[in-house]
Amino acid sequence: MIRVAIVIGSTRPGRNGEGVARWVHDLAARRDDAAFEIVDLRDYDLPHLDEPMPPAMGQYEHPHTRAWAERIASFDAYVFVTPEYNRSVSGALKNAIDFLHAEWANKAAGFVGYGSVGGTRAVEHLRLVLGELQVAAVSSQVALTLAADFERFSVVRPASHQEGRLTAMLDQLIPWAGAMKAVRSDAVPSS
Ligand SMILES: Cc1cc2nc3c(=O)[nH]c(=O)nc-3n(C[C@H](O)[C@H](O)[C@H](O)COP(=O)(O)O)c2cc1C
Repeated sequence: MIRVAIVIGSTRPGRNGEGVARWVHDLAARRDDAAFEIVDLRDYDLPHLDEPMPPAMGQYEHPHTRAWAERIASFDAYVFVTPEYNRSVSGALKNAIDFLHAEWANKAAGFVGYGSVGGTRAVEHLRLVLGELQVAAVSSQVALTLAADFERFSVVRPASHQEGRLTAMLDQLIPWAGAMKAVRSDAVPSS
């Protein structure tokens, strides 16, 4: 079974990200082509990157890095639920991505962005970052705007068409997750 992580990209108290991730999970869990789990950055309490060796070396010294690496390595694909902070992703999400290397490589990713303008600029940045890590990012994405898809800018109530957008993204993601399994089994090294 394909395993997909729904990564909450915000650690902020009162974050909207948790509600968005639950909405994604509720819809995704109805599918039978993959298993979905929410991954919460808060559970890992990562400091700013504090590994002496570059992550590409895979020589992790700290227990928090090893715990994060073990969880991320266990998935075939990721749905990044990302807020937009100053036209990019949160520092917490970028830092959590930077901690690892091989664990992301040759996996698939999809995006659910949210913010004043749908998190689209954050997702564009994330696509660049993940490209460096050899992650195959699907083109369909969900863009939730605070004005249209949230009540009082803080309770997620996606407009009716957003379910279809999410389904379209997952319909692209799951086959790519399966295809990337084959790439990994051929042991193509990441640079
Ligand atoms: C530090 C910060 C910067 C933000 N910058 C942007 C931005 O550049 N563009 C945007 O559309 N929304 C921006 N927002 C609005 C957030 O996308 C929105 O508040 C979102 O709910 C934040 O995610 P969170 O609640 O899960 O932390 C910003 C919010 C914060 C806290």
